[in-house]
Amino acid sequence: MKFTVHGALLCAGATFVAAANKDDIHFTYPRYPAQARYVALGPQLEPAPPANKTYEYIVVGAGPGGSPLAARLAMAGHSVLLIDAGGDHGNLREVKIPAMSIWSSERSELTWAYYTHHYEDEKMTKKDRKLTYRTKDGSLYSGLSPPEGAEMLGNYYPRVGGVGGCSQHNALISILPTNGDWNRIKELTGDDSWDAEKMRGYYKKIEKNEQPFPVDADAHGYSGWLKTAVTPLSLAAQDFKIISVILGAAASAGVELNGPLSQLRKLTENLTGGLLNKLLPINYLTGMVDGLASLLLHDMSTNDPNRDSTPALVQMPLSMGAPSYERSSPRDLVYKVATAKNPDGSKKYMLDIATNTLVTKVNFDTTDERPKATGVDYLYGESLYRADPRASLTEDGGVPGSVSASREVILSAGTFNTPQILKLSGVGPADELEKFDIPVIKNLPGVGTNLQDRYELGVTAEVSSDFDLVQECTYLAEGDKCYDQWINGIGALKGPYTTGGLAVGYFMTSSQAEGEHDIWVGGLPAIFQGYFPGYSTHILTATNKNHWTWLVLKAHTRNTAGTVNLTSANPRDTPKITFHNLFEGSSVEDANKDLQAVVEGMRWAVKAIDEIRPLDGSTFTQVWPPRNVTDDDAALRDWIAEEVWGHHASCLCPMGADGDPMAVLDSKFRVRGVEGLRVVDASAFPKIVGTFPVLSIYMMSEKAADVILADLAA
Ligand SMILES: Cc1cc2nc3c(=O)[nH]c(=O)nc-3n(C[C@H](O)[C@H](O)[C@H](O)COP(=O)(O)OP(=O)(O)OC[C@H]3O[C@@H](n4cnc5c(N)ncnc54)[C@H](O)[C@@H]3O)c2cc1C
Ligand SMILES: *[C@@H]1O[C@H](CO)[C@@H](O)[C@H](O)[C@H]1NC(C)=O
Ligand SMILES: *[C@@H]1O[C@H](CO)[C@@H](O)[C@H](O)[C@H]1NC(C)=O
Ligand SMILES: *[C@@H]1O[C@H](CO)[C@@H](O)[C@H](O)[C@H]1NC(C)=O
Ligand SMILES: *[C@@H]1O[C@H](CO)[C@@H](O)[C@H](O)[C@H]1NC(C)=O
Repeated sequence: MKFTVHGALLCAGATFVAAANKDDIHFTYPRYPAQARYVALGPQLEPAPPANKTYEYIVVGAGPGGSPLAARLAMAGHSVLLIDAGGDHGNLREVKIPAMSIWSSERSELTWAYYTHHYEDEKMTKKDRKLTYRTKDGSLYSGLSPPEGAEMLGNYYPRVGGVGGCSQHNALISILPTNGDWNRIKELTGDDSWDAEKMRGYYKKIEKNEQPFPVDADAHGYSGWLKTAVTPLSLAAQDFKIISVILGAAASAGVELNGPLSQLRKLTENLTGGLLNKLLPINYLTGMVDGLASLLLHDMSTNDPNRDSTPALVQMPLSMGAPSYERSSPRDLVYKVATAKNPDGSKKYMLDIATNTLVTKVNFDTTDERPKATGVDYLYGESLYRADPRASLTEDGGVPGSVSASREVILSAGTFNTPQILKLSGVGPADELEKFDIPVIKNLPGVGTNLQDRYELGVTAEVSSDFDLVQECTYLAEGDKCYDQWINGIGALKGPYTTGGLAVGYFMTSSQAEGEHDIWVGGLPAIFQGYFPGYSTHILTATNKNHWTWLVLKAHTRNTAGTVNLTSANPRDTPKITFHNLFEGSSVEDANKDLQAVVEGMRWAVKAIDEIRPLDGSTFTQVWPPRNVTDDDAALRDWIAEEVWGHHASCLCPMGADGDPMAVLDSKFRVRGVEGLRVVDASAFPKIVGTFPVLSIYMMSEKAADVILADLAA
């Protein structure tokens, strides 16, 4: 099969070729693609440097870790500067529309493209067909046969540089960590405030559940800042093929089709003759929706003590409102707090947000024995960081400045940047800092170690005809009836753009699980083979609507060997990120356990596709990986080792026990060995959480605000 990419969003000439033969795959894409410009859907912050004043608190990074914390400190009456290296694009269409999340991850206004290394070993690295090279003409080639003279960059890893951080492009999935995730921090540090029961309070504080009838109503919060809902079931129920896929998953999961479910099957069988390849009329849906509901309405936020270990096929809770069906995120929270006014028109809270401001280092007062953080240095200017596709790779731009904090600096610059900033500030492994002539403030060998991520892979089927549900969608290209529907419709009638894509998921426990789910499999109507530059332009398009991918994701990976190392002392340069996957980083035993779990997840996905009995007579054919790979144990293990990716990198500045030389933080987020400096973001976890991290980061951020305010009161 061959796709040529079309559409107003896309650059001319990007082509993608996929085939059962792995060696045939390649993709070429510009570093800075031409993209349609348009007016945002609502107000956004104008770029602004930090004001020339001293704040009580400076929070570096307006992502999930920094934003709730900065808002809470300001709402408690303190002066707070929240700094972000990027701008505010929270009202881009691609950001606001749940179904456009994949596209938002490659909008050049907000994307940061890192190139990571799955292995140190070059031979292993070069087996990945997604591996990206910079060609002589400056474009990006991903594939196995790079042109002459191309320079190997690594595996593309999209992040967001901008207010909201990755909450602006993520897939909206809002899942609690397992109770074990919190309790392990409690046990590791001896700090009872991390107990899972206590942490649940933060979830209720954050959540504004807008789901009409949440299954476990007591488990939710209703007045927080994060709106949550699930995709209207009437949407899935309109498309025969999607119903078939869900029934296939139910069969793979061993769910018996009785009660309303068998009714559902009967109903659909009855209809097939008359309505082949058409959407079901909405008034015919009650029976369908009841059937699907009886299958999928399991609440993953429930208090049930067996939640974390019971296999479950569910609709994924998403961070979006209902009936607005718009992305909800901490960007909206900080925007609201920073722009809130008193009746007399004056600013209500002392929260300032500096944008396009790249923090380059934390400053310390070293007169006392324990260095004390006093503020930060920064560079002001758009696109200064070289992960930004618009940044110059050769010129060192930006207007330097510095700003002071009378109480504390909090680093929330995300999993790759927080360790980089610490190292640039002289806090990190002394030998590495000395290599770059950075004066050592505090030798902390754990900074930039302990990197953990998922192992992810997809199983994709080609369908003999298009999914009806998305038939009228052009994904913001000309004549997009689905966009019109999303703008003008009400509630469920807002149509297919009300889903984040990965709307159905299966939580499973493989033979290698240690009590909790260790695999999640989620489905989307697309051909998703991992991240490479331009991936968002072909996986689901106006002309490609006949693929289904079950995405397999390994929770709680055992590999803790990844590192983030400086490549230079220039704060504009991206660091070297190395995962040391599987056997390169883990013991043989651990690597085998992780591999086996992923094998079982992949086989579940293969079975879920095999079990599809298309109600409209269409056929589903597995095309990726090739069938002879998934059928063969050795070939499948090789495929996994070559192709796995992740997108939840965490744990590079881990909390840990007193006396552990590799612990960077204590249980109150304080950087060990210095004063007035904390870390609050995905890098603070000692162990990667459950299946999806962002809700855990919000909860951590809320907790950090409480901890900081309590310290102040003490
Ligand atoms: C494509 C994709 C999809 C995802 N989907 C999901 C999902 O559906 N569910 C889920 O739970 N998780 C998802 N995640 C993961 C989740 O979004 C991230 O783990 C989370 O956003 C991390 O939060 P953070 O605060 O640690 O860092 P980030 O989100 O990375 O935020 C860091 C912020 O710091 C700023 N910054 C960085 N360096 C500097 C500097 N030097 N100076 C000033 N500012 C700086 C950045 O601009 C950014 O705004 C997804 C991630 C990706 C990449
Ligand atoms: C900042 O303010 C101080 C005193 O209020 C002043 O001396 C200094 O020149 C100002 N700096 C800038 C860059 O405006
Ligand atoms: C199926 O169709 C038949 C004939 O039209 C009808 O009698 C029957 O009630 C239908 N069954 C269901 C479950 O709708
Ligand atoms: C990263 O730096 C550490 C020292 O901090 C060193 O041990 C390690 O080998 C480096 N890793 C890479 C991939 O450069
Ligand atoms: C799978 O089949 C393809 C095409 O026939 C072949 O090239 C490849 O070597 C086979 N792979 C395995 C693992 O058998």
